[in-house]
Amino acid sequence: MTLNDFSQYARRRVDDYLTLNLGQYEPATHLQNAMAYSLFNGGKRVRPMLTYAAASLFGEANNLTDASAAAIESIHAYSLIHDDLPAMDDDDLRRGKPTCHIQYDEATAILAGDALQTFAFELLSNPKHQSTKVQLQLIQELVHASGRHGMVTGQMIDLANVGNSINIDELEQMHQHKTGALIRASIRMGAISTGAKSEADFAALDAYAAAIGLAFQVQDDIIDITSDTTTLGKTQFSDEEANKPTYPKLLGLAGAQVLAQNLHSQAITAISPFGDAAQPLVELANYIIGRNH
Ligand code: IPE
Ligand code: IPE
Ligand code: MG
Ligand code: MG
Ligand code: MG
Repeated sequence: MTLNDFSQYARRRVDDYLTLNLGQYEPATHLQNAMAYSLFNGGKRVRPMLTYAAASLFGEANNLTDASAAAIESIHAYSLIHDDLPAMDDDDLRRGKPTCHIQYDEATAILAGDALQTFAFELLSNPKHQSTKVQLQLIQELVHASGRHGMVTGQMIDLANVGNSINIDELEQMHQHKTGALIRASIRMGAISTGAKSEADFAALDAYAAAIGLAFQVQDDIIDITSDTTTLGKTQFSDEEANKPTYPKLLGLAGAQVLAQNLHSQAITAISPFGDAAQPLVELANYIIGRNH
């Protein structure tokens, strides 16, 4: 499968699953509309792609793989709605469209984020799934990645350091929490959903995830400078204007680009034990480093 075929396959699966499960609450309310707006307004679906790619190493994607991919994307959508709020990054543009609080209003955006967060756990805890033991494992992975041990703490470090000069270790800590944790969970949850058990397999996947998760945010910082607003779908130079701690700020643009390349190599090396089966993960690593939006 080419990357294009694989990304279409992953996108269709996760979008169908999200649509099916969101649709149970017709008729649509204002809250529902804001949730759907932020779930279906053109995200790249990188995390679901990683989930399906990791799942494919151990077996056929199943309902728990779909629930994992959809839950992660739902947490991601919530994190972006809140990230764009005036109290946080105060951004007006996301995926080339008005951010949720601009399209609706601040209160609706806060509540849509809240509801998307719990929707993720609604999907994972659905009693129709085949294994409560695996469900609990998946829920624990997502809790760990998204809450006080993961993304939320990363966002707190980010906001607490506006205007501060932090060192490279602190910046890495911030990025690993802010973005790396959810990317790591995307990969681990995919693997868990199709029965991965061996410690060696998880160690290899974690090493890949640590490198690619960090690379993802390094590249996000780079394209804030190198991509124009139309390509980016977000406002160019938003990090600089908000005085955010970023890799280009600390290492220079060229230094950040070298770091992204090095992390890419580390990621590829980490999954070499899986051989040809890891091709989708290799292609996703290439995509993450090469993306311009
Ligand atoms: C943007 O994530 C926010 C970060 C965590 C860096 P993505 O670049 O995956 O956003 P979408 O979902 O494709 O818009
Ligand atoms: C946000 O990071 C990461 C989240 C956890 C939401 P950024 O603030 O860099 O994301 P963008 O650039 O607004 O997408
Ligand atoms: Mg932010
Ligand atoms: Mg932001
Ligand atoms: Mg950014």
